[in-house]
Amino acid sequence: MIRSVVRGFGTALPKRVLTNAELESMVDTSDEWIVQRTGIRQRYIAGEGETTASLGEAAARDALDKAGLTAADIDLIIVATSTPDNTFPATAVNIQNRLGMHHGFAFDVQAVCSGFVYAVTTADAYIRGGLAKRVLVIGAETFSRILDWTDRTTCVLFGDGAGAIVLEAQEGKGTVADRGVLTTQLRSDGAHREKLYVDGGPSTTGTVGHLRMEGREVFKHAVGMITDVVVSAFDATGFTAEDIDWLVPHQANKRIIDGSAKKLGIPLEKVVVTVDLHGNTSAASIPLALATAARDGRIKEGDIVLLEAMGGGFTWGAVLLRW
Ligand code: UT7
Repeated sequence: MIRSVVRGFGTALPKRVLTNAELESMVDTSDEWIVQRTGIRQRYIAGEGETTASLGEAAARDALDKAGLTAADIDLIIVATSTPDNTFPATAVNIQNRLGMHHGFAFDVQAVCSGFVYAVTTADAYIRGGLAKRVLVIGAETFSRILDWTDRTTCVLFGDGAGAIVLEAQEGKGTVADRGVLTTQLRSDGAHREKLYVDGGPSTTGTVGHLRMEGREVFKHAVGMITDVVVSAFDATGFTAEDIDWLVPHQANKRIIDGSAKKLGIPLEKVVVTVDLHGNTSAASIPLALATAARDGRIKEGDIVLLEAMGGGFTWGAVLLRW
């Protein structure tokens, strides 16, 4: 049985750090409120010349280096983003070109904060279906460019950045002892679309628009939706909370992360948290956190790693893999 195994990982962050203290001079907020309600202490903000594609390219190059590969070895690029450089073409083809890659194919997936989980699921399906051997899966965002910087209820929460992994087809035995992606679980329900959305778009206003969120409503649904897909991932593999070596959640809010881990019975020592440093980077948050924990040696070969996310749409999903 073909499995999609993580062969490399990489990250990229903008140069500029924006602290909570700086935000105090921009909107009516405080470091104390932001830290208590979200766990965020700082975030990175893209400057001139830094875009979703430039950050995605840098994360991809980092991941290729770690894998000991070049763009010539890749046959598919999937970019999860809700903040593309242009309405079209896809940011993925922009990154493909920046990498000097003129073979294979590239496309974007759009599932907001669940984007990386959707992209890994898509890459896994292409690999297991024999349509691709090595896939660059990138989560890249510049949410700072769609924030209303006068709205304190949203502008303090988000940041920019990118993370990438290389998934490679490897032969497995078809058991959960295999390395690679073991199960993926995706859900969406458009009935919630107005709880977290952007108030513009090519076909409605002809403008890019700004992010709007009913934070409390999103919060209310988050833990239940995350638990739903994680329990499905456990059912599909026979694993339980005790088998999980590392939970790498979408980094929206430390309270959602802690609440989900508690409900699932996963101890906080096994949870990778980067929301304090990066803020909510939407589709980039999981690969940024994953690469951080792999680079510092926490995630080791053979570990069982659980990824989960919930976000705009609503969309939600989980991926269980052996590193
Ligand atoms: O990435 C996936 C999607 N996004 C999320 O997962 C985000 C989910 N939601 C959340 O993380 C939380 O709901 C927030 C962090 C957005 C808000 O936390 P909360 O505990 O739900 O606060 P709240 O919205 O109930 O607001 C509490 C108070 C309000 O004042 P009143 O009405 O009680 O007087 C807000 O106006 O806090 C006020 N407030 C602020 N105060 C200082 C809202 N934003 C700020 C702020 N600084 N930045």
